[in-house]
Amino acid sequence: MPKLGVNIDHVATVREARKTFEPDPVEAALQAEKAGCDGIVCHLRKDRRHINDDDLGSIKEAVTTRLNLEMSVDPQIVDIACGTKPDQATIVPENRREVTTEGGLDVAGNFDRVKEVISSLAACGIEVSLFIDPEEEQVKATSEAGAKVLEFHTGRFCEAFNRGEDYSKELEDIVRMTKFAIQEGLTACAGHGLNYQNAGPIARIEGMHELNIGHSIISRAVFVGLYEAVREMKDLIK
Ligand code: PXP
Repeated sequence: MPKLGVNIDHVATVREARKTFEPDPVEAALQAEKAGCDGIVCHLRKDRRHINDDDLGSIKEAVTTRLNLEMSVDPQIVDIACGTKPDQATIVPENRREVTTEGGLDVAGNFDRVKEVISSLAACGIEVSLFIDPEEEQVKATSEAGAKVLEFHTGRFCEAFNRGEDYSKELEDIVRMTKFAIQEGLTACAGHGLNYQNAGPIARIEGMHELNIGHSIISRAVFVGLYEAVREMKDLIK
């Protein structure tokens, strides 16, 4: 059964809508852990649109499961990561005007810089994951760059599923690439756009290590509370 990482960025998004002190992402991390999640995920963006540097420090202090920091290869963010020492860092592409992470990292196309960042983070004792599209070239590049973990961007699958279209090709890509990644000695995770309707087929993929889910859990929490929303997703994955 895959583990569940809960992304709490959007708790800070609501706070930033008013530039005030509530809701507190640290409290969200603690609630999610109490409800049985296996790890906390947050993204320190260059534009600090939700999680900020103080949040990151406080979340790191508070988390008792594992902290997975999503980050770009920006040198300042790499320095902050090395100072904070999350258990894991997931390198993602970051574009200034995007609403959310739009696609996987082009590891093959940015090989030298990605490899350099993996080495810097690893030297600080941080396990590194790369967020990639489910494509063979990217899986190979991930392995060659020295990362031991990858996360497949499930966006294409989720969009097809949500539109009620045939999603078999998108699902098959993730199934095939998970198998390939495991053969290459990598740990395979998945995330982006997963929700209470579409997470099942991804959770059932053999060898899938972890699902990282944010938006749909925080959305559900508006109606049932975060504790219940996390429990429901844990049960669904089970
Ligand atoms: N995994 C990664 C690498 C991401 O960048 C995100 C979005 O921040 C997620 C998982 C969570 O995606 P969602 O909020 O759509 O569940």
